[in-house]
Amino acid sequence: MSNAPDLKDRSAVVTGASSGIGRAIAESLGASGAHVVLCGRTESAMKESVDRIAAAGGTAEAAVIDVCKPGAIQGLVDAAVAAAGHLDIFVNNAGVGSFGTILGTDVAQWRTLLETNVLALLVGCQAAVNSMRSTSTRGHIVNISSLAAKSPDSGIYGASKHAVNVVTNSLRLELIDDPIQLTTVMPGVVATNFARYLDPAVLEGFAAMVGDGGSIRPGERLPDDVLERAQVALGDFMIRPEDIAAAVLFAVTQPPGVDVSEIVVRPNKDIALT
Ligand SMILES: NC(=O)c1ccc[n+]([C@@H]2O[C@H](COP(=O)([O-])OP(=O)(O)OC[C@H]3O[C@@H](n4cnc5c(N)ncnc54)[C@H](OP(=O)(O)O)[C@@H]3O)[C@@H](O)[C@H]2O)c1
Repeated sequence: MSNAPDLKDRSAVVTGASSGIGRAIAESLGASGAHVVLCGRTESAMKESVDRIAAAGGTAEAAVIDVCKPGAIQGLVDAAVAAAGHLDIFVNNAGVGSFGTILGTDVAQWRTLLETNVLALLVGCQAAVNSMRSTSTRGHIVNISSLAAKSPDSGIYGASKHAVNVVTNSLRLELIDDPIQLTTVMPGVVATNFARYLDPAVLEGFAAMVGDGGSIRPGERLPDDVLERAQVALGDFMIRPEDIAAAVLFAVTQPPGVDVSEIVVRPNKDIALT
């Protein structure tokens, strides 16, 4: 194990941990000693993370679930409690993008976006609080929002992230007498599989910039090496998932009286994805 902050005897659930930001958060919490329950829809990627956490001396398990399915999130909480006796950290990270115009998209896209980015996050918050209260645990909930929540006209995706901020701030008031802390993390552009939601023309330009046309297809996950090359090529415009994971680790390792309520982590220069 490294000399990273000690999360020994803690447990953590990270949703959307099969890729990008969630994967980096899960691996960072695992390397710091927490037992991590990863969830996502791509089993092979999560298995690799579980193995990397084990190689770093930690423990982890993966659940292939759709966070929008009833009961799925409660299963993650139960798994964390079964492993450690209590749930300490819950990271609501699973999310999807929708960068088309409001008039040019449809109800099916809006439903997927709102069910994943907002409803599943609400369910996650409620399940986490109920569990932490039942074991009197000094817990921490981290909600991954977006820099889009800072913008008044960031489209339907931005609207979902404004909702995340309002939910988190409102829940903080409801939990004022509980030993449970909440942190909203607002990333700028990060080199992840979120690129799969970009307009095909934008994605094509992105592919040309990193010298890879063949392996990039709209709607599909991108190879890790393509994302790494993109981050290196566009370093001023794109940060790494590990940069967000470092912010999360900072928030969850503060002393009890210190409330890190909001963190914005952005590249030097912002590009709008909409
Ligand atoms: N990348 C950015 O520039 C950026 C900026 C600001 C905020 N964010 C936010 O950061 C969070 C993570 O995104 P990312 O950039 O890391 O994107 P990503 O690489 O596409 O990862 C998203 C993760 O969420 C999972 N997921 C999506 N829908 C799910 C569902 N219904 N059930 C279970 N898992 C689901 C994905 O699983 P599978 O891949 O297995 O389907 C994947 O593990 C999102 O909330 C996003 O809004 C991203």
